[in-house]
Amino acid sequence: MSNTIKRGGFSSSFGVLAATLGSAVGLGNIWKFPYLTGANGGAGFLLIYLLATLVIGLPVMIAEITMGRTAKANPITALQKLSPKKSLPWWLVGVAGMVAAFLILSFYSEVVAWVFAYVVKAIGGSILSSDRHVTESAFSTLISDPVQSLLWQWGVLAFIGGILLMGVTKGIEGITKKLMPVLFLLLMLLCAVSLSLDKAADGLAFLFRPDFSKISAGVILTAMGLAFFKLSLGMGTMMTYGSYFRDDQNIPATTLRVMLADLFVSMLAGIAIFPAVFTFGFEPAAGPALVFITIPAVFSQIPGGQLLMIAFFVLASVAATGAMLSLMEVPVVILHERLGMSRPKATLVTIATLMVLGSSCALTNSTLASFKLFGMNMFDLFDFASSNVLLPLGGILLAVFVGWVWGKDKFQQALSNQGALRNHVTVSAVFFLLRYVSPLLILAVMLKGLGLF
Ligand code: PHE
Repeated sequence: MSNTIKRGGFSSSFGVLAATLGSAVGLGNIWKFPYLTGANGGAGFLLIYLLATLVIGLPVMIAEITMGRTAKANPITALQKLSPKKSLPWWLVGVAGMVAAFLILSFYSEVVAWVFAYVVKAIGGSILSSDRHVTESAFSTLISDPVQSLLWQWGVLAFIGGILLMGVTKGIEGITKKLMPVLFLLLMLLCAVSLSLDKAADGLAFLFRPDFSKISAGVILTAMGLAFFKLSLGMGTMMTYGSYFRDDQNIPATTLRVMLADLFVSMLAGIAIFPAVFTFGFEPAAGPALVFITIPAVFSQIPGGQLLMIAFFVLASVAATGAMLSLMEVPVVILHERLGMSRPKATLVTIATLMVLGSSCALTNSTLASFKLFGMNMFDLFDFASSNVLLPLGGILLAVFVGWVWGKDKFQQALSNQGALRNHVTVSAVFFLLRYVSPLLILAVMLKGLGLF
C-alpha cells in the first residue's frame, strides 16, 4: 500500500539541513536546556549532557536517518521493510514512537502556547521589567488561567495543522529555511547584553565550572533524556525526516552539523540567561518558568528592548513551530501511509486527538492542579515518560536493530551512498558505538536513573 502513495521530499541539500535543524532546534534549546541545567546544578549537568549527545545522540541520529532514507517510509513500515526476519515485531518501535510523539506534543504545545502568549504580552509591554516580582507574577498569572492556557494551546494546534496541510516541502522547508538565521542573530545580541551585566561572571561560573556534588543517577538520566529530546531521537522523527533525505546527501556530515549547530543554540541560550539570573536575583532552579521570567529582564536593560523582545518571542515561536511540525509529522505520516487516510484527514485526526490529550497539560496549573499520577501532574508525567523512558528505550531498540539485526554490510552500503562516499572509518566507528556502546550505556543509565537497579 505504502508504495503506491506519492511521497514528498526535501528538494535541496540546504533544505535538508534546514529542516533537520528545524526539528532539533526548538524550545528544547531555549526553554528546556536552560531550566534543566539550572535545576540540576549547572556545569556538571552540562558536561554529562554533552557526553550523552556525542556518545549516544550522534550515533543514534545517524542510525535513524540512515534507516529512514533507505526504507523511504514511515517508521512502522521502515522497520518492517528493513527487518530481515518478518516474524519479530520490530515495527512496534514505530508504534511506541507515535505514542511518544503524542505525549511530547501534549506538553510541548502548551509551552509553545506560553511563547505565543508572550508575543502578545511583549507587545502590551507590561512584562518588560528587571523586577523579578513583575516577571514572575506575569508568568504565573498566565499559566494558572485555565481559559487562556487552553485557548492558546488550541490556537497553536490549529496553526500547526494549517502549515502541515500545505504539504511537506512547501510547509516545513520554506518556513524553517527563512527564519532560523535570524534567531541565531537575536540570541547572540541577547548574549552580548547579558554578558555586560553586573554578575555575568557568576552566571558563567554556574554554567561552565562543574560541581559534581549535585550529580545523581536521576540527574544523569535527565541529561541523557535531554540529549534524546534535543536531537528529536528515539521516536521516529529523524527516521521520518531521513525518509525525505536525498540519496546523495552525506548523512554523517549533515548530522554532525545539525548536532553542533543545535549545541551552539543551547549554549547561546544558557549564556543569555544565567548571567541575568544571578544579576537580578532569580532562582536558577526556577523550573519551567525560568526563561519566561528571565528573558524580559535582560531586554529591559537595552534601548529598544520591547521591540527586540517581541522579535525574540516571535522567533522562539518559529523555532518551536519547526520542532512541532516534525513531531506531528510522525503520527500524520503513519496514519496516512498505514491507515490510508488522506494527509489532510490524518492531520485533522492528530490535531483533534491533541486537543483532548493536550488539555490535560494545559490545565495542569489550574483546574487539574491536584490531579496526579505516579506523584506527578500530567505535564511532568508526559515529559518524564517521553524523555526519560520512551525516547531512551526507542534509542536502545534502534541501536540494537542496526547493530545486530540490520547488520554492518547494509549499514555501510547505505551510509556510504552505495560506495560513493569514502567514509569507511566513520561508518565503522558509528557501527561499533551502535552495536556495543549505546544500547548498554542507555540501559545502564535508565535502570539506575529509574531506581530499578
Ligand atoms: N528537538 C525538539 C526541541 O528541542 C523537540 C522534539 C523532540 C522534536 C522530539 C521532535 C521530536 O525542541
